[in-house]
Amino acid sequence: MSVPLLDVNAQNLPLEGELTAAFQKVLHHGRFILGPEVEELEAELADFLEVPYAIGVSSGTDALLLAFMALGLGPGDEVLCPTFTFFATAGTIARTGATPVFVDSCPVSFNIDVEDARRKITGKTKAIVPVHLFGQSADMDGVVDLAKEFGLQVVEDAAQAIGATYQGKKCGSIGDFGAFSFFPSKNLGGLGDSGLLVTSDGELAETARIMRVHGGQPKYYHHVLGANFRIDTLQAAFLKIKLKHYNTYTAARQANAEQYTEKLGRLPGVKSADLTHCVSDGIQQQWLADEDVQILLPTICKGNESIWNQYTLRVIGDGQRDALRDHLLEHGIGAEIYYPLTMDQQSCFRNLTESSLQGCDVAHRLADEVISVPIYPELSAEQKGEVIAAVADFLGKK
Ligand SMILES: Cc1ncc(COP(=O)(O)O)c(C=O)c1O
Repeated sequence: MSVPLLDVNAQNLPLEGELTAAFQKVLHHGRFILGPEVEELEAELADFLEVPYAIGVSSGTDALLLAFMALGLGPGDEVLCPTFTFFATAGTIARTGATPVFVDSCPVSFNIDVEDARRKITGKTKAIVPVHLFGQSADMDGVVDLAKEFGLQVVEDAAQAIGATYQGKKCGSIGDFGAFSFFPSKNLGGLGDSGLLVTSDGELAETARIMRVHGGQPKYYHHVLGANFRIDTLQAAFLKIKLKHYNTYTAARQANAEQYTEKLGRLPGVKSADLTHCVSDGIQQQWLADEDVQILLPTICKGNESIWNQYTLRVIGDGQRDALRDHLLEHGIGAEIYYPLTMDQQSCFRNLTESSLQGCDVAHRLADEVISVPIYPELSAEQKGEVIAAVADFLGKK
Protein backbone atom coordinates (compact mmCIF):
# COMPACT_ATOMS: atom_id res chain seq x y z
CA MET A 1 0.00 0.00 0.00
CA SER A 2 1.78 3.16 -1.10
CA VAL A 3 -0.70 5.43 0.66
CA PRO A 4 -2.17 3.72 3.72
CA LEU A 5 -5.33 5.13 5.24
CA LEU A 6 -3.33 5.71 8.42
CA ASP A 7 0.30 5.16 9.38
CA VAL A 8 0.62 5.25 13.18
CA ASN A 9 4.36 4.59 13.01
CA ALA A 10 4.92 7.74 10.98
CA GLN A 11 3.73 9.70 14.01
CA ASN A 12 4.92 7.53 16.89
CA LEU A 13 8.40 6.45 15.82
CA PRO A 14 9.84 9.99 15.68
CA LEU A 15 8.83 10.17 19.37
CA GLU A 16 10.48 6.84 20.21
CA GLY A 17 13.07 8.39 22.54
CA GLU A 18 10.50 10.39 24.49
CA LEU A 19 8.02 7.50 24.64
CA THR A 20 10.71 5.10 25.83
CA ALA A 21 11.82 7.52 28.53
CA ALA A 22 8.18 7.87 29.67
CA PHE A 23 7.85 4.08 29.80
CA GLN A 24 11.02 3.79 31.86
CA LYS A 25 9.84 6.45 34.27
CA VAL A 26 6.56 4.60 34.89
CA LEU A 27 8.37 1.26 35.07
CA HIS A 28 10.60 2.62 37.79
CA HIS A 29 7.99 4.42 39.91
CA GLY A 30 5.70 1.39 39.54
CA ARG A 31 2.39 3.20 40.09
CA PHE A 32 0.66 1.60 37.13
CA ILE A 33 -2.89 2.34 38.32
CA LEU A 34 -3.88 6.01 38.72
CA GLY A 35 -0.24 7.03 38.99
CA PRO A 36 0.94 10.67 38.88
CA GLU A 37 0.84 10.90 35.07
CA VAL A 38 -2.95 10.41 35.14
CA GLU A 39 -3.58 13.56 37.15
CA GLU A 40 -1.00 15.45 35.11
CA LEU A 41 -2.65 14.45 31.85
CA GLU A 42 -6.09 15.30 33.22
CA ALA A 43 -4.91 18.78 34.19
CA GLU A 44 -3.28 19.36 30.80
CA LEU A 45 -6.36 18.17 28.91
CA ALA A 46 -8.72 20.21 31.09
CA ASP A 47 -6.62 23.21 30.17
CA PHE A 48 -6.55 22.31 26.46
CA LEU A 49 -10.30 21.65 26.32
CA GLU A 50 -11.14 24.68 28.48
CA VAL A 51 -13.14 22.71 31.04
CA PRO A 52 -12.79 22.57 34.83
CA TYR A 53 -12.98 18.77 35.15
CA ALA A 54 -11.34 16.05 33.05
CA ILE A 55 -11.36 12.38 34.03
CA GLY A 56 -9.08 9.88 32.31
CA VAL A 57 -10.85 6.61 31.50
CA SER A 58 -10.26 3.26 29.86
CA SER A 59 -11.70 4.08 26.40
CA GLY A 60 -14.02 6.39 24.53
CA THR A 61 -16.73 3.76 24.86
CA ASP A 62 -16.31 3.72 28.63
CA ALA A 63 -16.33 7.54 28.71
CA LEU A 64 -19.81 7.44 27.14
CA LEU A 65 -21.03 4.61 29.38
CA LEU A 66 -19.71 6.36 32.48
CA ALA A 67 -21.43 9.61 31.45
CA PHE A 68 -24.77 7.84 30.99
CA MET A 69 -24.39 6.00 34.30
CA ALA A 70 -23.46 9.21 36.14
CA LEU A 71 -26.58 10.88 34.69
CA GLY A 72 -28.65 7.98 35.99
CA LEU A 73 -30.05 6.84 32.64
CA GLY A 74 -31.74 3.46 32.66
CA PRO A 75 -34.72 1.34 31.65
CA GLY A 76 -37.73 3.38 30.54
CA ASP A 77 -35.61 6.33 29.39
CA GLU A 78 -35.20 7.27 25.74
CA VAL A 79 -31.99 8.82 24.43
CA LEU A 80 -31.73 10.55 21.05
CA CYS A 81 -28.61 9.78 19.07
CA PRO A 82 -27.63 10.02 15.43
CA THR A 83 -28.12 6.84 13.46
CA PHE A 84 -25.05 7.59 11.35
CA THR A 85 -22.28 7.08 13.91
CA PHE A 86 -19.84 4.54 15.29
CA PHE A 87 -21.56 1.74 17.19
CA ALA A 88 -20.27 2.82 20.62
CA THR A 89 -22.60 5.83 20.72
CA ALA A 90 -25.71 3.67 20.54
CA GLY A 91 -24.28 0.56 22.18
CA THR A 92 -23.49 2.38 25.43
CA ILE A 93 -26.99 3.90 25.60
CA ALA A 94 -28.48 0.44 25.23
CA ARG A 95 -26.11 -1.02 27.85
CA THR A 96 -27.60 1.26 30.53
CA GLY A 97 -31.01 -0.25 29.78
CA ALA A 98 -32.21 2.99 28.15
CA THR A 99 -33.62 2.93 24.62
CA PRO A 100 -31.66 4.63 21.85
CA VAL A 101 -33.90 6.56 19.46
CA PHE A 102 -32.17 7.03 16.15
CA VAL A 103 -32.11 10.43 14.49
CA ASP A 104 -31.42 11.26 10.85
CA SER A 105 -28.39 13.23 9.59
CA CYS A 106 -27.63 16.53 7.96
CA PRO A 107 -26.50 15.64 4.42
CA VAL A 108 -23.73 18.25 4.51
CA SER A 109 -22.12 17.95 7.95
CA PHE A 110 -23.21 14.27 8.39
CA ASN A 111 -24.17 15.23 11.96
CA ILE A 112 -27.43 14.96 13.89
CA ASP A 113 -30.45 16.60 12.26
CA VAL A 114 -31.88 18.66 15.10
CA GLU A 115 -35.28 19.04 13.44
CA ASP A 116 -35.62 15.26 13.19
CA ALA A 117 -34.52 14.97 16.83
CA ARG A 118 -37.32 17.36 17.79
CA ARG A 119 -39.88 15.20 15.96
CA LYS A 120 -38.74 12.15 17.93
CA ILE A 121 -39.02 13.60 21.44
CA THR A 122 -41.56 11.88 23.71
CA GLY A 123 -42.41 12.10 27.39
CA LYS A 124 -39.69 9.51 28.01
CA THR A 125 -36.84 11.36 26.30
CA LYS A 126 -34.12 12.12 28.86
CA ALA A 127 -31.00 12.95 26.86
CA ILE A 128 -29.54 13.77 23.47
CA VAL A 129 -26.12 12.67 22.23
CA PRO A 130 -24.69 14.81 19.43
CA VAL A 131 -21.69 13.15 17.78
CA HIS A 132 -19.04 15.41 16.24
CA LEU A 133 -18.43 13.07 13.35
CA PHE A 134 -15.16 13.00 11.41
CA GLY A 135 -13.81 15.95 13.43
CA GLN A 136 -16.56 18.50 12.80
CA SER A 137 -18.96 19.85 15.42
CA ALA A 138 -22.66 19.09 15.36
CA ASP A 139 -25.11 22.01 15.38
CA MET A 140 -24.67 22.68 19.10
CA ASP A 141 -26.91 25.77 19.30
CA GLY A 142 -29.69 23.64 17.86
CA VAL A 143 -28.95 20.79 20.28
CA VAL A 144 -28.66 23.03 23.35
CA ASP A 145 -31.86 24.96 22.51
CA LEU A 146 -33.77 21.70 22.10
CA ALA A 147 -32.29 20.34 25.33
CA LYS A 148 -33.33 23.47 27.24
CA GLU A 149 -36.83 23.43 25.77
CA PHE A 150 -37.44 19.80 26.76
CA GLY A 151 -35.19 19.51 29.83
CA LEU A 152 -32.82 17.01 28.22
CA GLN A 153 -29.29 16.17 29.31
CA VAL A 154 -26.61 16.57 26.65
CA VAL A 155 -23.69 14.16 26.27
CA GLU A 156 -21.35 15.10 23.44
CA ASP A 157 -19.65 12.19 21.72
CA ALA A 158 -16.46 14.02 20.84
CA ALA A 159 -14.45 10.82 20.29
CA GLN A 160 -13.44 12.04 16.83
CA ALA A 161 -13.20 15.73 17.61
CA ILE A 162 -10.65 16.59 20.30
CA GLY A 163 -9.70 20.24 19.81
CA ALA A 164 -12.41 20.95 17.21
CA THR A 165 -14.45 24.06 17.92
CA TYR A 166 -18.03 25.27 17.59
CA GLN A 167 -18.27 29.06 17.52
CA GLY A 168 -14.95 29.20 19.32
CA LYS A 169 -15.95 26.69 22.03
CA LYS A 170 -14.20 23.36 22.26
CA CYS A 171 -16.30 20.37 21.25
CA GLY A 172 -17.08 18.32 24.34
CA SER A 173 -17.12 21.37 26.63
CA ILE A 174 -20.66 22.50 25.81
CA GLY A 175 -22.95 19.71 27.07
CA ASP A 176 -23.33 18.13 30.52
CA PHE A 177 -20.55 15.72 29.58
CA GLY A 178 -18.09 15.36 26.69
CA ALA A 179 -16.55 11.99 25.82
CA PHE A 180 -13.23 11.54 24.00
CA SER A 181 -11.29 8.56 22.66
CA PHE A 182 -7.54 8.04 22.41
CA PHE A 183 -7.87 4.91 20.25
CA PRO A 184 -4.69 4.79 18.13
CA SER A 185 -6.46 6.01 14.97
CA LYS A 186 -7.91 9.07 16.68
CA ASN A 187 -6.27 12.46 16.17
CA LEU A 188 -4.76 12.23 19.65
CA GLY A 189 -3.98 8.54 19.47
CA GLY A 190 -2.49 6.53 22.32
CA LEU A 191 -0.51 3.31 22.22
CA GLY A 192 -3.59 1.27 23.10
CA ASP A 193 -7.06 2.01 24.44
CA SER A 194 -7.98 4.97 26.62
CA GLY A 195 -10.37 7.90 26.75
CA LEU A 196 -11.50 10.98 28.64
CA LEU A 197 -14.68 12.35 30.15
CA VAL A 198 -15.06 16.09 30.72
CA THR A 199 -17.70 18.22 32.42
CA SER A 200 -18.17 21.69 33.86
CA ASP A 201 -20.36 20.37 36.69
CA GLY A 202 -18.46 19.63 39.90
CA GLU A 203 -21.05 17.19 41.24
CA LEU A 204 -21.22 15.19 38.02
CA ALA A 205 -17.42 15.12 37.95
CA GLU A 206 -17.31 13.76 41.48
CA THR A 207 -19.94 11.09 40.68
CA ALA A 208 -18.02 10.03 37.57
CA ARG A 209 -14.74 9.84 39.50
CA ILE A 210 -16.34 7.57 42.09
CA MET A 211 -17.99 5.41 39.42
CA ARG A 212 -14.61 5.09 37.66
CA VAL A 213 -13.45 2.97 40.61
CA HIS A 214 -16.49 0.69 40.99
CA GLY A 215 -18.45 3.38 42.82
CA GLY A 216 -16.30 2.91 45.91
CA GLN A 217 -16.10 5.97 48.18
CA PRO A 218 -14.20 5.51 50.38
CA LYS A 219 -12.53 2.43 48.94
CA TYR A 220 -14.58 -0.73 49.58
CA TYR A 221 -17.72 1.24 50.53
CA HIS A 222 -20.10 1.24 47.56
CA HIS A 223 -23.15 3.52 47.60
CA VAL A 224 -23.45 3.57 43.81
CA LEU A 225 -22.73 1.07 41.07
CA GLY A 226 -19.63 1.72 38.99
CA ALA A 227 -17.04 -0.32 37.15
CA ASN A 228 -13.34 -0.35 36.34
CA PHE A 229 -13.20 2.63 34.00
CA ARG A 230 -9.60 3.67 34.79
CA ILE A 231 -7.03 4.87 32.29
CA ASP A 232 -3.62 3.15 32.61
CA THR A 233 -0.80 5.30 33.94
CA LEU A 234 1.28 4.19 30.96
CA GLN A 235 -1.25 5.46 28.44
CA ALA A 236 -1.46 8.76 30.32
CA ALA A 237 2.34 9.07 30.19
CA PHE A 238 2.39 8.42 26.42
CA LEU A 239 -0.50 10.79 25.76
CA LYS A 240 1.22 13.61 27.67
CA ILE A 241 4.01 13.40 25.11
CA LYS A 242 1.69 13.30 22.12
CA LEU A 243 -0.39 16.19 23.46
CA LYS A 244 2.68 18.45 23.27
CA HIS A 245 2.72 17.91 19.49
CA TYR A 246 -1.03 17.90 19.00
CA ASN A 247 -1.46 21.36 17.49
CA THR A 248 1.14 20.53 14.84
CA TYR A 249 -0.73 17.35 13.93
CA THR A 250 -4.01 19.25 13.60
CA ALA A 251 -2.45 21.97 11.46
CA ALA A 252 -1.06 19.30 9.10
CA ARG A 253 -4.45 17.59 8.78
CA GLN A 254 -6.09 20.94 8.09
CA ALA A 255 -3.49 21.75 5.42
CA ASN A 256 -4.04 18.33 3.83
CA ALA A 257 -7.79 18.88 3.73
CA GLU A 258 -7.35 22.30 2.19
CA GLN A 259 -5.13 20.88 -0.55
CA TYR A 260 -7.54 18.05 -1.30
CA THR A 261 -10.48 20.41 -1.47
CA GLU A 262 -8.64 22.81 -3.73
CA LYS A 263 -7.26 20.18 -6.11
CA LEU A 264 -10.15 17.73 -6.15
CA GLY A 265 -12.58 20.63 -6.49
CA ARG A 266 -11.05 21.45 -9.89
CA LEU A 267 -11.94 18.04 -11.32
CA PRO A 268 -15.03 17.83 -13.51
CA GLY A 269 -17.99 16.32 -11.65
CA VAL A 270 -16.62 17.25 -8.23
CA LYS A 271 -18.34 19.85 -6.09
CA SER A 272 -18.47 21.04 -2.51
CA ALA A 273 -21.84 20.68 -0.84
CA ASP A 274 -23.73 23.93 -0.53
CA LEU A 275 -23.21 25.45 2.91
CA THR A 276 -26.78 26.65 3.06
CA HIS A 277 -27.89 23.01 3.31
CA CYS A 278 -26.95 22.99 6.94
CA VAL A 279 -27.57 26.06 9.03
CA SER A 280 -27.02 26.41 12.73
CA ASP A 281 -30.61 27.40 13.55
CA GLY A 282 -32.14 24.28 12.00
CA ILE A 283 -30.95 21.86 9.41
CA GLN A 284 -32.70 21.96 6.08
CA GLN A 285 -32.85 18.68 4.25
CA GLN A 286 -32.01 19.46 0.72
CA TRP A 287 -31.10 16.81 -1.77
CA LEU A 288 -28.72 17.31 -4.59
CA ALA A 289 -30.58 17.66 -7.79
CA ASP A 290 -27.55 18.48 -9.92
CA GLU A 291 -27.18 15.59 -12.35
CA ASP A 292 -23.57 16.42 -13.19
CA VAL A 293 -22.23 15.89 -9.68
CA GLN A 294 -20.32 12.64 -9.20
CA ILE A 295 -18.37 13.40 -6.05
CA LEU A 296 -19.23 15.77 -3.23
CA LEU A 297 -16.38 17.07 -1.10
CA PRO A 298 -16.70 17.41 2.67
CA THR A 299 -17.87 20.82 3.80
CA ILE A 300 -17.23 22.61 7.05
CA CYS A 301 -20.28 24.46 8.34
CA LYS A 302 -20.11 28.10 9.37
CA GLY A 303 -18.74 28.59 12.88
CA ASN A 304 -16.96 25.22 12.94
CA GLU A 305 -13.26 24.45 12.97
CA SER A 306 -12.73 20.82 12.02
CA ILE A 307 -9.79 18.71 13.13
CA TRP A 308 -10.33 16.44 10.10
CA ASN A 309 -10.37 13.02 11.73
CA GLN A 310 -11.55 11.85 8.33
CA TYR A 311 -11.76 13.38 4.86
CA THR A 312 -15.01 11.87 3.65
CA LEU A 313 -16.33 12.06 0.11
CA ARG A 314 -19.85 11.35 -1.05
CA VAL A 315 -19.86 9.41 -4.31
CA ILE A 316 -23.17 9.85 -6.10
CA GLY A 317 -24.78 7.09 -8.18
CA ASP A 318 -25.66 3.46 -7.66
CA GLY A 319 -22.58 1.36 -6.88
CA GLN A 320 -20.21 4.24 -7.59
CA ARG A 321 -18.84 4.50 -4.06
CA ASP A 322 -17.81 0.85 -4.05
CA ALA A 323 -16.33 1.28 -7.53
CA LEU A 324 -14.18 4.18 -6.26
CA ARG A 325 -13.09 2.15 -3.23
CA ASP A 326 -12.01 -0.75 -5.46
CA HIS A 327 -10.23 1.65 -7.79
CA LEU A 328 -8.31 3.28 -4.93
CA LEU A 329 -7.34 -0.07 -3.41
CA GLU A 330 -6.10 -1.28 -6.82
CA HIS A 331 -3.89 1.81 -6.92
CA GLY A 332 -2.45 1.08 -3.48
CA ILE A 333 -4.49 3.77 -1.71
CA GLY A 334 -6.16 2.97 1.59
CA ALA A 335 -9.82 3.90 1.84
CA GLU A 336 -12.52 2.94 4.32
CA ILE A 337 -16.26 3.20 4.59
CA TYR A 338 -17.27 4.90 7.80
CA TYR A 339 -20.00 3.60 8.11
CA PRO A 340 -21.59 1.04 5.80
CA LEU A 341 -24.62 0.53 8.06
CA THR A 342 -26.51 3.00 10.21
CA MET A 343 -27.54 2.12 13.77
CA ASP A 344 -31.19 1.52 12.85
CA GLN A 345 -29.95 -1.04 10.31
CA GLN A 346 -27.94 -3.04 12.86
CA SER A 347 -29.43 -6.42 13.60
CA CYS A 348 -28.76 -6.13 17.34
CA PHE A 349 -31.27 -3.26 17.43
CA ARG A 350 -33.95 -5.02 15.38
CA ASN A 351 -36.14 -5.53 18.44
CA LEU A 352 -36.45 -1.83 19.17
CA THR A 353 -39.88 -0.37 18.52
CA GLU A 354 -40.64 1.19 15.16
CA SER A 355 -40.48 4.69 16.67
CA SER A 356 -36.78 4.17 17.53
CA LEU A 357 -35.95 3.12 14.00
CA GLN A 358 -37.98 5.23 11.61
CA GLY A 359 -37.17 8.24 9.45
CA CYS A 360 -33.44 7.88 8.79
CA ASP A 361 -33.49 8.28 5.00
CA VAL A 362 -30.66 10.78 4.65
CA ALA A 363 -28.39 8.64 6.82
CA HIS A 364 -29.18 5.55 4.75
CA ARG A 365 -28.12 7.42 1.68
CA LEU A 366 -24.92 8.57 3.37
CA ALA A 367 -24.09 4.99 4.32
CA ASP A 368 -24.32 4.10 0.62
CA GLU A 369 -22.28 7.07 -0.61
CA VAL A 370 -19.46 7.86 1.84
CA ILE A 371 -15.81 6.92 1.56
CA SER A 372 -12.88 8.24 3.60
CA VAL A 373 -9.43 8.75 2.06
CA PRO A 374 -6.03 9.19 3.78
CA ILE A 375 -5.75 12.51 5.67
CA TYR A 376 -3.22 11.71 8.43
CA PRO A 377 -0.73 14.49 9.26
CA GLU A 378 2.42 12.78 7.99
CA LEU A 379 1.21 12.25 4.39
CA SER A 380 3.85 13.41 1.94
CA ALA A 381 3.12 15.71 -1.00
CA GLU A 382 3.67 12.72 -3.34
CA GLN A 383 1.17 10.62 -1.44
CA LYS A 384 -1.48 13.34 -1.57
CA GLY A 385 -0.73 13.70 -5.28
CA GLU A 386 -1.33 9.96 -5.72
CA VAL A 387 -4.71 10.15 -4.01
CA ILE A 388 -5.79 13.09 -6.18
CA ALA A 389 -4.51 11.42 -9.36
CA ALA A 390 -6.33 8.18 -8.57
CA VAL A 391 -9.63 10.03 -8.03
CA ALA A 392 -9.09 11.95 -11.30
CA ASP A 393 -8.35 8.68 -13.08
CA PHE A 394 -11.56 7.16 -11.68
CA LEU A 395 -13.63 10.09 -12.92
CA GLY A 396 -11.88 10.06 -16.30
CA LYS A 397 -12.85 6.44 -16.87
CA LYS A 398 -16.56 7.03 -16.38
C1 LIG B 1 -17.97 8.43 17.40
C2 LIG B 1 -17.26 7.48 18.30
N1 LIG B 1 -17.76 7.24 19.52
C3 LIG B 1 -17.16 6.42 20.39
C4 LIG B 1 -15.98 5.77 20.07
C5 LIG B 1 -15.42 4.80 21.04
O1 LIG B 1 -14.10 5.05 21.37
P1 LIG B 1 -13.12 3.84 21.81
O2 LIG B 1 -12.76 3.09 20.59
O3 LIG B 1 -11.97 4.54 22.44
O4 LIG B 1 -13.86 2.99 22.79
C6 LIG B 1 -15.40 6.00 18.82
C7 LIG B 1 -14.12 5.40 18.40
O5 LIG B 1 -13.83 4.30 18.24
C8 LIG B 1 -16.07 6.85 17.90
O6 LIG B 1 -15.56 7.07 16.69
